[in-house]
Amino acid sequence: MAFEDLYQEIILDHYRHPRNFAVLDEVSDENIHENPTCGDSIKLDIRLGEDGRIESVRFNGRGCAISVASASMMTEQLAGLTIKEALAKISSFVRILRGEGDASQLAEWGDLVALEGVVKYPIRVKCATLAWHAASDLLVSKSRGAS
Ligand code: FES
Repeated sequence: MAFEDLYQEIILDHYRHPRNFAVLDEVSDENIHENPTCGDSIKLDIRLGEDGRIESVRFNGRGCAISVASASMMTEQLAGLTIKEALAKISSFVRILRGEGDASQLAEWGDLVALEGVVKYPIRVKCATLAWHAASDLLVSKSRGAS
């Protein structure tokens, strides 16, 4: 199986069976992030444990395969990190997808490597980073004690 096919399989698996996809009716609509280019949106909930580490990341919303798969992968990637570690990872991921970071790092981040090819498609970069921007905003507000 070619790498492209394998990556496609990974993306479709996360799209069809998104991890940590949940009903989030109790979560404030302030946690909704929209992709202005298409109107798709994602709602995010991040819970911190008593040790200050991320206990769970759950999401809801609608979007294309890339945006849902990326959100699903992100929920797995951020669990267990401190807010500082998570913000650093989000920043690195967004930079890589914009073609500014060290893409080889994706290979160390499990299924995220499947999004490597998105770098070539600027429109798709917005899809793949939608949940990550939402997580960044939410974590920054949590670190300020706002939610
Ligand atoms: Fe809307 Fe990808 S087309 S998030």
